[in-house]
Parts: sequence; structure tokens; C-alpha cells
Amino acid sequence: MAAAVRLLLISFLIFSHYTPSLSVGEDVYLLEFKEGFQNSSALDSTWRNGTHPCRDKWRGIECEDNNNVSSLILVGLGLSGSSQQMDIEALSNLERLRFVSLENNSISGPIPEFNRLTSLRSLFISGNQFSGVIPDNFFDNMGSLKKLDLARNKFSGKIPVSLEKLGNLVQLSLENNEFSGPIPSIGQQSLVEVDFSNNKLQGRIPQLMSRFGPKPFDGNPDLCGPIVSKPCNANGLPDANNSSSDSDAGTKWVILGIVVTVLLMTILFNKAKKREENFSVLGKESSNKVVQVRIPSSNRRSMSRKGGSYKDPGTRSLRRGTSTGKHGNDLVVVNEEKGIFGLQDLMKAAAEVLGSGGLGSAYKAIMGNGASVVVKRFRDMNKLNRDAFDAEVRRLGRIRHRNILPPLAYHYRKEEKLLVTEFVPKGSLTFLLHGDRGSTSHAELTWPIRLKIIKGVARGMGFLHTEFANYELPHGNLKSSNILLSSNYEPLLTDYALYALISNTHSVQALFSYKCPEAVLYQQLSPKSDVYCLGVVILEIMTGKFPSQYLNNQKGGTDVVQWIRQAVSEDRVSELIDPEIVNTSSSIGQMEKMLFIGAACTESDHDKRIEMREAIRNIEEIQV
Ligand SMILES: *[C@@H]1O[C@H](CO)[C@@H](O)[C@H](O)[C@H]1NC(C)=O
Ligand SMILES: *[C@@H]1O[C@H](CO)[C@@H](O)[C@H](O)[C@H]1NC(C)=O
Ligand SMILES: *[C@@H]1O[C@H](CO)[C@@H](O)[C@H](O)[C@H]1NC(C)=O
Ligand SMILES: *[C@@H]1O[C@H](CO)[C@@H](O)[C@H](O)[C@H]1NC(C)=O
Ligand SMILES: *[C@@H]1O[C@H](CO)[C@@H](O)[C@H](O)[C@H]1NC(C)=O
Ligand SMILES: *[C@@H]1O[C@H](CO)[C@@H](O)[C@H](O)[C@H]1NC(C)=O
Ligand SMILES: *[C@@H]1O[C@H](CO)[C@@H](O)[C@H](O)[C@H]1NC(C)=O
Ligand SMILES: *[C@@H]1O[C@H](CO)[C@@H](O)[C@H](O)[C@H]1NC(C)=O
Repeated sequence: MAAAVRLLLISFLIFSHYTPSLSVGEDVYLLEFKEGFQNSSALDSTWRNGTHPCRDKWRGIECEDNNNVSSLILVGLGLSGSSQQMDIEALSNLERLRFVSLENNSISGPIPEFNRLTSLRSLFISGNQFSGVIPDNFFDNMGSLKKLDLARNKFSGKIPVSLEKLGNLVQLSLENNEFSGPIPSIGQQSLVEVDFSNNKLQGRIPQLMSRFGPKPFDGNPDLCGPIVSKPCNANGLPDANNSSSDSDAGTKWVILGIVVTVLLMTILFNKAKKREENFSVLGKESSNKVVQVRIPSSNRRSMSRKGGSYKDPGTRSLRRGTSTGKHGNDLVVVNEEKGIFGLQDLMKAAAEVLGSGGLGSAYKAIMGNGASVVVKRFRDMNKLNRDAFDAEVRRLGRIRHRNILPPLAYHYRKEEKLLVTEFVPKGSLTFLLHGDRGSTSHAELTWPIRLKIIKGVARGMGFLHTEFANYELPHGNLKSSNILLSSNYEPLLTDYALYALISNTHSVQALFSYKCPEAVLYQQLSPKSDVYCLGVVILEIMTGKFPSQYLNNQKGGTDVVQWIRQAVSEDRVSELIDPEIVNTSSSIGQMEKMLFIGAACTESDHDKRIEMREAIRNIEEIQV
């Protein structure tokens, strides 16, 4: 891609009399934009006529290919003035501009015509003094917008209805304004994070926003509906008699959660016909975050011919392979190492919710033959048709590497896919490192064990980067919760190479590789995005801290990337080593080296970030 652009530029240079000095450069447009502020003294020293915004590193400017301005990040610079003086037209000449942040300045007046920047992906103007009503159709032409932050201003009037149409919107922050009136039906699939808190909103909260829970609606006393556990009266206003106290509401949520879980389980066990009421209660077992669930047990499957033994239906399904699959009713076994089983076995099995993430939810089940498996449910996996999906999952299932956990079977239906993998008793690295709210000590994770884990992860990644070398993201979802540990602490990578299967843009973004800086800022991905994820895992293992990078809002956890960057610059890297291992050996030097590798892998500029091969080579050199 970049190469193609470069080639184009070269031919352009050869075949036209291209003279950069004659064309109006982006510097001119930016200076025009700067003129619009009353006080922009913070920019004076770098924003100078005749210099290049990219090559001369103007403050707050980031560029694509060191050539064209892609981000304008003017945060907390004391910029002041009226929005009506702002020259958005000048900005509209910056064709590659995707990211604008004017957060925490002192700009007042109505919202500027940002809607002329139709390619914008992120707009952050929180923490100013913008005010007035935003026209209802304001966002009509801003379909590329993914993140919109208008918080902490003085916007009033209704929330613009045109927000409903932004099909790529991931984050919407409107908190701490003076918005009033009802909330439009902003519930598009892409949305992950919304905040309407502390406004003056009124009326019933649209039901399709229930997945966000009550918190985003705090501080709006006149909102009502089941989401905030406040019944609406006939006028769509909160019933004057607040029937439920807060603790009541809490209980309701728990109950609702259980109900939803049960529903999910019912769906999982697919069109089961109710013939009798026979429930088995399943309790906690080994794992963290075990939720008690009730699921209908066994023997009620339309497909089950005459019941039969455990193995019977499974064997049949395997033999029939995709032809049974045409009806979408059975498991297709892609890896026979743990035996052969069918959907029947899965339905007979006791199941336990392990958790849910951006991609779907996971359950543990024990098969009739004693094998414990993990079943992951995915929506939005419709990129490939059935045959291509089959081929792809079989390819994943054929992988044999000591550090990779291949899928055993899949179940294909249009609406959802199940992937079945072996259950690994020690659980995930997240669990071992951070336990359940700190209740578990990770003392068993000594330095030699941590080194073994890092080396194993690196080897697994090396294998994937060879095997899927032509993929944009050979792994795509490396994080500690996707690293399982065998009984002797050999790490096993799961959830790899899913990028090729997932269709919905929002779901794709649940892959952790999308958290690397080049993806967040420029939507760029490459195998080096996996390197960034590897770096986060290394820093997590070495510091014992839970990386804030794993959280959507980055609130909580430790920003390990920033931490190591600072420690490197201040030459105090050894202070980051997890106290649990720092005493146990005389290997501080080696531990420091590992932290430096973590730092090199999380370098924010992906051009400067080391390659996977080099990272692995460096890791292999570290000794106990
Ligand atoms: C930049 O400099 C050129 C000549 O060097 C001048 O014509 C132009 O007006 C200047 N622009 C600004 C914004 O000062
Ligand atoms: C990229 O930058 C070059 C030089 O700064 C400029 O001539 C060109 O018009 C820019 N391209 C776009 C698409 O803005
Ligand atoms: C302009 O902003 C700077 C901070 O960037 C501040 O120090 C200065 O006092 C401001 N000047 C005026 C006139 O407001
Ligand atoms: C803007 O200011 C708020 C409140 O002071 C702060 O929480 C936030 O981190 C600031 N934003 C940035 C990008 O610095
Ligand atoms: C609503 O509940 C609050 C506290 O829970 C109570 O102080 C108030 O009197 C209640 N209002 C009505 C109308 O019942
Ligand atoms: C609502 O509360 C008021 C006093 O707060 C009370 O007089 C009235 O009977 C209550 N209405 C109902 C339906 O409970
Ligand atoms: C429920 O299932 C158990 C064994 O799975 C069986 O023994 C029992 O008879 C069943 N109960 C009813 C009411 O069918
Ligand atoms: C670690 O070392 C410090 C000082 O060197 C000592 O006070 C502490 O007891 C040691 N902790 C362990 C677990 O050995």
C-alpha cells in the first residue's frame, strides 16, 4: 500500500514538472487555522511559515508517511477564542486529516462546522466552553466518525438525531453538558462506549441501549425506564414514587444477569425442544469468575436419532462432515486428538460460563468421554461462506506446535459460530498473574517460570508469523487472557488468526491488535501490531501489573507502555520489576534486558518498532 503510493509519487515526479514550492502546502492551511484563535501562543515556536509541519515537527501535528498531516492534537494548550472565528475551511484542505483533538482549551461559542471534515474518524472537543444547540442533522455527512467526545462543555438543546446514523461510531461522550429532551435511539452495533451522564435529559431511555447498563445515564434525574430501574409513568417521565432503592436495583441487575445467562445457554443449546422440565444446577469449579447457571440438561434434541451412546452421533457427524453441516446442526471435528464428539455430547455436558469478551462468550463443558472443553460463541463471523469457513478452521485445527492450542471442532450456523478447544486446567495467564481481585498471590510465578512463559509465547508467535505470514494479523489477539498455561507452565496461545473470519468492523476491533497506536490513530495494521501486543504481555509478566491497555476506557490498570517509556528515559528500569521476583534471584540484569525488549516491542512509531523475528531472537538470548 505505502509502496504503491510511493511508486505513484515517483512516477508523478518523473512525468510532471512537480515543484513542491509552488503548490500551497499544508503549512499554509494550518497557519490559517491557527490565525482563528485569540491566543495560540503555545504554537508560536514551531508553527512557522516556510517550515514543514511534518518534517519540522510542529507541535501537536502527526503525519502520514512524514508527509501529510493526519492528526491535529492540540490538547490543553490554552487556545482561546470564539468558535465563529475558527477556520474549518482551512482544515478541510488537509485531505489526510483523520483525527482532531482540541480537548481542554478555552474555546467558546457554537459548535464549529466540523461536519465539513467528512473523513474525520475522531473528534475530541471536550473540556472547552462550547455552547448552544447542535443542529439535528449536523452529523449527516460524518459517516466515518468513530469517536466523538463533546463532554464537559455547555451544549444545550436536544441530542442531534443524526448521531443515530453513524454506523462506525464506537465511542460517544456527551457527559457534563446541558443537553435536554429525550435520548435518540443511539444503539448501533458498533458502539462500545457511551456516556450521557450529568445532563438534563428526560424521558424513557430507548430499550436498545440496555446493553450499556445504567451508569452512562447517571445524573439525569428525569430519565426513566427499566435500564435505570425507574418505572416511567404514562407521560414517559419517572414515576414520582421511587419504588426501588439502590440496593434493590443492584439485586435486579444480578437477577437480570442470570436471566440473560440462562437465555444465552438456551440459545447455545440450540432450538432444544422442551419435552420435560429437568434442570441440573451447575456450581463453581476451578475457574475464576464462575457464574452459577442453570441449563436444560440433555436428551431433547430434534436431531438426536434414538439417543444412542455418547460416541454414536459424534462419529456420525464426523463422517458426514460438511454434509450434515448443510443443515447447520452439528459439530464438525477438525482435530481428533481429544476424541470425537458431537453437539449431542455438548448438550449433555455440564456447562459453566467462563466469561465474555468483545468477540463473544466462553463456556466450559465436560464431555461424556471425560474431556473438558471450552466452547466459544462468536457472532459476526460471517466473512467467509460455509466452505471457506470450514477450510479456514480446518487449517487452524491442523496446527501442531507445543505453544499453540488449536481448535478441536466448530459449529456453523448463519447467526453464530461455536469454536471448541481443549480446556486447560491452570487457566489463563491473566488469572495466574492477577488472580481474582488480588486474592491470589502469584508467588508461584518465579522468574524462571516467567521466562519460560515469555519464551514459549515468543516461539508460538514465531510459528504463527511463519504459518500465516501473508495475513495482515497472523495472531491478532495476543493478550494474557488468551495465553493458557499447561500444568508445567508451558504457555498455549488461543484465539489466533481469527481476523480472517470476522466480518463486523466493530467486532474486528475487539481484537487486541487494534489497540496498537497505529491502528487507533490511523487504522493501520501489520504484523508489527502483534509485536506491540507481545510487548504488552512481556511488560505485564515482568511488572506483574494489569495493563490498562486491556481495558476499553483505559481507566484502571497500569499504563505499562507509558511506565516503561518513562523508566527507560529516567534510567530506572529495574524499579519496574515485580517485587515477587526481584528477590528470588541474582538475575536483575537479565530481567532488565527483558523489560527493554518489552519497551522496544511497544514503541509507538511502528516504523521504529522491532520486527517479530528480532524480538524473538532477543528474547531467546535472555537467560535465567
Ligand atoms: C508566508 O510567507 C510567504 C512568503 O514567504 C508570504 O507570502 C505569506 O503571506 C506568509 N504567510 C503567512 C501566513 O504569514
Ligand atoms: C501531501 O503532501 C504533499 C507535500 O506536502 C502535498 O503536495 C500533497 O498535496 C499532500 N497530499 C494530500 C492528499 O493532501
Ligand atoms: C495565552 O496562553 C498561554 C498558555 O499557552 C498563557 O500563558 C497566556 O497567558 C495566554 N495569553 C493571554 C493573553 O490569554
Ligand atoms: C482534560 O482535562 C480533564 C479534567 O482536568 C482530564 O481528566 C483529562 O485527562 C484531560 N485530557 C487530556 C487529554 O489531557
Ligand atoms: C425517593 O427516594 C428517596 C430516597 O431513596 C426519598 O428520600 C424520597 O422521599 C423518595 N421520594 C418519593 C416521592 O417517594
Ligand atoms: C406516591 O407517594 C406519595 C407521597 O410521596 C403518596 O402520597 C402516594 O400515595 C404515592 N402513590 C403511590 C401510587 O404509591
Ligand atoms: C432428570 O434427569 C435425571 C438424570 O439425568 C433422571 O434420573 C430423572 O428421572 C429426570 N427427571 C425427570 C423428571 O425426568
Ligand atoms: C526482598 O529484599 C528486601 C531487601 O533486600 C527484604 O527486606 C525482603 O524481606 C525480601 N523479600 C523476600 C520475599 O525475600
